[in-house]
Amino acid sequence: MNRKRVAVLISGRGSNMAALIEAATDKTYPAEIVVVISNRPDAGGLIVARANGITTEVVDHSAFGKDRTAFERALQAVLEKHRIDIVCLAGFMRLLTADFVGQWQHRILNIHPALLPAFKGLDTHRRALEAGVNVHGATVHFVVPEMDSGPIIAQAAVNVRPGETEEELAARVLKVEHQIYPLALKLLAEERLQIENGHCRIDGVPVPDAASLIPVP
Ligand code: GRF
Repeated sequence: MNRKRVAVLISGRGSNMAALIEAATDKTYPAEIVVVISNRPDAGGLIVARANGITTEVVDHSAFGKDRTAFERALQAVLEKHRIDIVCLAGFMRLLTADFVGQWQHRILNIHPALLPAFKGLDTHRRALEAGVNVHGATVHFVVPEMDSGPIIAQAAVNVRPGETEEELAARVLKVEHQIYPLALKLLAEERLQIENGHCRIDGVPVPDAASLIPVP
C-alpha cells in the first residue's frame, strides 16, 4: 500500500495534530504525517511534532504583512517540497484564499469544534452553552473557500451536561475530535470518499449517523 503523504497545518498546541501523528504510527494506517507546518514560530505543537520525530516547518504569516497570496505561495512551496498529497488543518488560524483551496480541492480537511453547520467561527463552546443546546460536538469536513463549510465527513456528538463550564465542554469535545480526525483522514487516504452535490459519501453511501461511527460519550 502506498501511504498518502500528509501535511498537518497548525497555529497552536496541536492536540489534533498529535492524534493524527499517533494514528499514523500504525504502519497499516493509510497515511503518514510527513511534515507539520505552523504559521506561528511559537506554536506549542511544533515541539510535540519534533519530539515525535516529525519534520517541522514554519511559514510565518507576519513576514508577509497583508499579502495573503505571497504567504500561500510560500506555504505551497513547502507542501510541494515535501510532495504532499493531503493537507489537514488542525487549529490553523489563517483563512485561506479560494485560489489556494482550489489547488487542494478534495485533498484538504479541517476539524471544527461544533456540529456544523451550527456554530461556525470562534468560541463555539461558549456560544453552544449560551444557546442552551443539549447536543454539541465536532465535525471533520473538506475545506471550501467559505469558512467552516464544505462537505462533512465525520461528526461526533457530545451531550451537554447541566451546569457544565465552557472548559469542561471543550475538553469533552476535544476527546471526540481526536477520534474522528484520524478516522476521516483514513477514509480520505483510502480513497473511500466521494462528493456528490456538495455532500460526502463513504463507499458510495451517505455518511452514517454520528452515533454509529463514534459512541456518544
Ligand atoms: C480544536 O478545537 C479544533 O477543532 C479547532 O481548533 C482547536 C485546535 O486545538 N479548529 P489543537 O491545536 O488541535 O489542540
